[in-house]
Amino acid sequence: MRIRIFEDAGRLAEAAAREVESWVRLTAPGVTIGLAGGTTPQATYRLLRKVRLPWPEVGAWLTDERHVPITDPASNAGMARRALFDHVPATLHTVPWDPDPVAAAAAYEVQLGTVLDRTSAGLKPDLVLLGVGEDGHTASLFPGTASLEVTDHDFVATWVPQVESWRLTATVPLLCRARRTVFLVSGAHKARIVADIIEGDGDHPAAVVSRDSKDAVWLLDRAAASLLSQV
Ligand code: 6PG
Repeated sequence: MRIRIFEDAGRLAEAAAREVESWVRLTAPGVTIGLAGGTTPQATYRLLRKVRLPWPEVGAWLTDERHVPITDPASNAGMARRALFDHVPATLHTVPWDPDPVAAAAAYEVQLGTVLDRTSAGLKPDLVLLGVGEDGHTASLFPGTASLEVTDHDFVATWVPQVESWRLTATVPLLCRARRTVFLVSGAHKARIVADIIEGDGDHPAAVVSRDSKDAVWLLDRAAASLLSQV
């Protein structure tokens, strides 16, 4: 696990954009990027609008999605489109809407099979961007939910009591097969969970994914890193 700390959220976003840029330059054509949802990555996605990359060779997918149509303001795909994918000629693979969340997740899992590299170990993402919640969730892998225990699927639907809604999420096995995993965490309100994950021995979902990933890097702003003792 590597840790890089930046002065503020703006510099964190710039560093994350450089991570994506360098990975795409290194890996295209056919490079895939797993997108984090939520608010933190939006500044990074907006910065990437201005970066000259072989966007037609880039395939992006969602590491998680809320169980809402893409037109809903809560949709991660809708957010990614507004922030970046309406502005560059890359392909954003969105979760098909189905009133049955289990059917939607199953359909997306099949779709990911046509997007991601397939190896003997299973589907292998290139670069995955992830956020972390204050409870240590990542993607929509929330503490205590059934999705954390799934080992025979790459993408599943799960009822999340913490948000009282269905969520669709990449599973631990899929996320941990990524060639590189970048956690983006910003803000003092995340300092406690960042310290617990990085310096503790907790089994928060984000800690499990980070520990079991091949190449995990944490990009933090100073506020989110403020409770780390060894920085
Ligand atoms: C989502 C995300 C989720 C997010 C964290 C952090 O669908 O909300 O995938 O895992 O990354 O909750 O969210 P913020 O960046 O908004 O703090």
